[in-house]
Formats: sequence, C-alpha cells, structure tokens
Amino acid sequence: MKKIQEILAQDSFSKEDLIGLLNAEGEDRTLLFKESQTRKEKEVGKKVFFRGLVEFSNICSKDCLYCGIRKSNQYVFRYEATDEEILDACLFAWKNRFASVVLQSGELSSPAFVDRVDGLLKKIKQLSNNELGITLSCGEQSRETYLRWKESGAHRYLLRIESSNQDLYYKIHPKNERHSFDRRLEALRLLRETGYQVGTGVMVGLPFQTMEDLANDLLFFKEMDIDMCGMGPYIEHEHTPLFEHKDGLKTRQYRFDLTLRMIATLRLLMPDINIAAATALQAIDPAGREKALAIGANVIMPNLTPCDYRKEYKLYDDKPCMDEDAELCKNCMEARIEIAGSEIGYDEWGDSKHFFKRSK
Ligand code: 5AD
Ligand code: FES
Repeated sequence: MKKIQEILAQDSFSKEDLIGLLNAEGEDRTLLFKESQTRKEKEVGKKVFFRGLVEFSNICSKDCLYCGIRKSNQYVFRYEATDEEILDACLFAWKNRFASVVLQSGELSSPAFVDRVDGLLKKIKQLSNNELGITLSCGEQSRETYLRWKESGAHRYLLRIESSNQDLYYKIHPKNERHSFDRRLEALRLLRETGYQVGTGVMVGLPFQTMEDLANDLLFFKEMDIDMCGMGPYIEHEHTPLFEHKDGLKTRQYRFDLTLRMIATLRLLMPDINIAAATALQAIDPAGREKALAIGANVIMPNLTPCDYRKEYKLYDDKPCMDEDAELCKNCMEARIEIAGSEIGYDEWGDSKHFFKRSK
C-alpha cells in the first residue's frame, strides 16, 4: 500500500488512492487535512462565502426514503412561506452584505410552482438592485423550466445525486418513475447545458454505502466536472423508512469524520470548486461546519428561513439552529468563522472559480 505522503504528492488520483485518503487515521489524517487546507487557500483563497438559505416550502411530491419532508410523512405540517416572508429574508441577506441567497424547497413541478419561483426570482433581483446572487435548490425540472428560471435571475443550482451508485440510489429511493436515477443525471446535464453553475453532492454514511462507493462518488464529481459540491453526513430520521436500518449504521461521530475526509479529499481532487460546509455536520458536532471550513470547505449557508417554519423543514433529526432568528444566526456565524481563522467574503458572490475557467 502507498504511504499517505506519496498520495498527497500526486496531482491525479486513482480510485485506490482516494480510498487510501478516505481511510486516513491519526497522523495520516492530520497530513490530509493540512494539505487540503493549504490547497484551498492557494486555489480559492481564505475567504468564506455566505449564502442565506431560505427554505420557502416543504411541500414535496417525492418520497425519498431518508428524508423527513417526504410526501408520505404525515407528521409534518406543510407550509409555504408568503412572498413577503421570502422577500424579507432576502432583504436581510442583502442588507447584511451576504451577496447571495439559496432558495430551497420540496420538489414540485406544477405550472403554479414554476410560475411562483419565476416571480420570486424577478422580485428578489428587483429589491436588491440586481445585486443578490440567487442559487436554486428545487429539484428535477424540465429544460424549459431551468431556462426560464435562469433568464429570471438564478445562476447557480444545487441538485445532489445523493449516491452515484445506481444500486445504492435505488435502495434509498422508491423504485418508480418519480425517483429515476437516469432522470437525476439528465437534470444535472440540463443544468449544465442551460448555463448554471452546477452543484451536486452525496450523503455520507448511508446504510449499505461502502468506501468504494464514496471514492466513486468523488470520481463522478470529477467526471461531471461540477462547479460546486455539498456533502453532509446521513442522519437518520425517525419518521422515514430508512430509519429501520439505524442499527447497521456507523456511529454518528464516524459519519461526521468521514464527511470531513470526503471534503478534504475532494479539495485535492478538484481544487478550484466551491465546497459547502453542510448544515448536517452541525447536527452531530456543534462546531461541525467550522471544522469543515478549516479543512477545505469555503461556503456556508446561514439559515434565514422564518423561525416558525424551521421545525417543519427537518430533513433529519437534531437539525441545528431551530430557534435563532436571522440576526442571531448571523452574529453566531461570524464569531464561529473568526474562531476558525477565516474571513468572510462580504459583498462578493464568491462564484465557483472552476466555472469561469471552463467558460473561458
Ligand atoms: N440526513 C442527511 N441529509 C439529508 N438530506 C435529506 N435527508 C437527509 C438525512 N436524513 C439531504 C439530501 C438533500 C438535501 C437537501 O438534504 O442530500 O439533497
Ligand atoms: Fe445559526 Fe449559530 S449558526 S445560530
């Protein structure tokens, strides 16, 4: 087996190399994290970029087996934030120099939903003097819809592949036309074609997931030439079908640490992309997101969802920041980032450097 120093000195990595990095422990793990942080600073700088997250509706047509807001979960009160609430949250982001927002929701594709998002995009642009950058995270849509939303002001889109292993994908999603792996892949291609900066990602520590799966996920990101990535630990949710596999899971701490190693390894594999410090990290460790920022991530998404709705947007158990309003959350996050030794990229969109290199 190769030594970790040998792998870290390379500029391309085989699947075996990636598995070696993902398994790094003790001194090796420290070396990996040092290298990924150095690489990050060299390629994308020291700044952390804020994306104010607005979870504007939890109404969802999908039934993913892991997700707390899946259609069949009867315990969830379904909400749709009003335009005023959404625009207020965006105004807060703009006034506080966040520069970008993420609009996230359950997946719907009705004409009414598509129109609503379209209208919101235009209003957000208007209220912010065209300044706020807008990322969407509203699931699989048609080419026409993606184009329309792009023209109305969205320029980045997040759609996690969840797992690039088709067999595993179908173990964590119902087997029906609404949950097709191929359609998910097609949606990612359409997003690229229609000109978005494309973000994807996976959950780490899923039942049935192997180290080889995770190494393949990293190779998948490379192959898809993605611009942004968000990866978080899988966290079981009591009111979902996947909960029955909870006894077969690795410990939460292990899933947490493996996510950090995934982030660090991805930073070495794709040094100039944007990598988010996922909120799910903080469900396990109170300083989880800051730890991710210290080993390779460069984006964080402070939650701006109106407080009353937050408890209904619980994708997993123990989701953090349930009561803190936007102001509190901002102050808390600033303090945490300073402690982690980074600066905040206020007033900057903080776009993916990788995207612009490709489009030159
Ligand atoms: N644990 C961790 N992440 C989850 N997500 C959904 N459910 C869970 C869970 N139980 C993630 C998915 C989705 C993103 C919005 O939240 O990866 O793409
Ligand atoms: Fe949200 Fe601290 S980051 S309250």
